[in-house]
Amino acid sequence: MLRDSFGRVATDLRVSLTDKCNLRCTYCMPPEGLDWLPKPQLLTADEIVRLVTIGVERLGIEEVRYTGGEPLLRRELVDIVARTTALEPRPQVSLTTNGIGLARLAEPLAEAGLDRVNVSLDTLDPATFKQLAHRDRHADVIDGLAAADRAGLRPVKVNAVLMRGVNDHEAAPLLRWSLDHGYELRFIEQMPLDAQHGWSRENMVTADEILQLLSAEFDLVPDDLEERGSAPAERFLVDGGPARVGVIGSVTRPFCGACDRVRLTADGQVRNCLFATEESDLKTAMRAGASDDELEERWRLAVSRKRAGHGIDDPSFLQPSRPMSAIGG
Ligand code: GTP
Ligand code: 5AD
Ligand code: SF4
Repeated sequence: MLRDSFGRVATDLRVSLTDKCNLRCTYCMPPEGLDWLPKPQLLTADEIVRLVTIGVERLGIEEVRYTGGEPLLRRELVDIVARTTALEPRPQVSLTTNGIGLARLAEPLAEAGLDRVNVSLDTLDPATFKQLAHRDRHADVIDGLAAADRAGLRPVKVNAVLMRGVNDHEAAPLLRWSLDHGYELRFIEQMPLDAQHGWSRENMVTADEILQLLSAEFDLVPDDLEERGSAPAERFLVDGGPARVGVIGSVTRPFCGACDRVRLTADGQVRNCLFATEESDLKTAMRAGASDDELEERWRLAVSRKRAGHGIDDPSFLQPSRPMSAIGG
């Protein structure tokens, strides 16, 4: 088991398959992109599967989430998913993606055993999408969502980050549209994880504001019947249900106390938190010939040192040196 000093147990492994992305969302990275990790530093598919296998077989990992950057850019993705769903005990396997390329890959991924997908979509307007993501790919995302739904990768969840003056007027339309398509929409508070270090508390659209924006058009009631457990999203029944909407208030309503996550970066570092300031280097150990026992031990130690919370409210808070795109969402 991966237990930390506060008694939390990590059962949800989030694996970044690449730090590269084909979009440039303003809350994530600059238009010119970033210095991507050099290829030799990336874990190979075999290395990824070896570590995931240790996580599942020896460390109690129950859910594996593949993320990026953009995980669909990783050529071996379908193979990695197939090898993950073949593990015993069989973990839940999901993907968090920007949706570009999903139109082609949803079916092969479903055949490889992928359980479900979360797709980012911040706007219904192609022009706003282009402004926000610096690429004209809105239609690809919409097609990707539809393909995921057809392939049965359900529930299809949609992630939207609201930005003041950019897309905050779209809160209600985004919900209406998601309800019409049978997708589960979640609004996410913007976090200080952008590569440009441009986040400010004043610009963040808070969970309270999101709920206020939605309440103008929908009747929202907290979904008390469902255990929230360690889920980041607070869920609300919309207009009496059964449809729901989620709000992920990472900053103003932190859920660190119930966190069950641990991360593996594309270059083989264990991070015990999105906001961790230290990492544990499994890649170098693995390439130097470490045994499964040794890797397991390093991994346990890394999780045992997890801090109580992200500390964004502390005066001494420092944004982690890795941006979100290189950590995995
Ligand atoms: P599911 O609902 O099980 O699909 O998981 P999820 O909502 O965590 O998945 P997703 O990858 O779509 O992440 C959505 C958002 O949740 C991210 O953009 C983050 O804002 C937030 N999030 C995910 N993991 C963490 C975490 O460890 N800490 C914090 N504070 N926020 C997180
Ligand atoms: N704050 C909040 N969410 C973010 N995402 C990317 N960067 C940030 C940020 N700084 C979202 C993406 C995606 C999810 C994995 O994280 O939109 O939906
Ligand atoms: Fe790419 Fe996701 Fe960052 Fe957007 S938020 S640029 S889709 S990694």
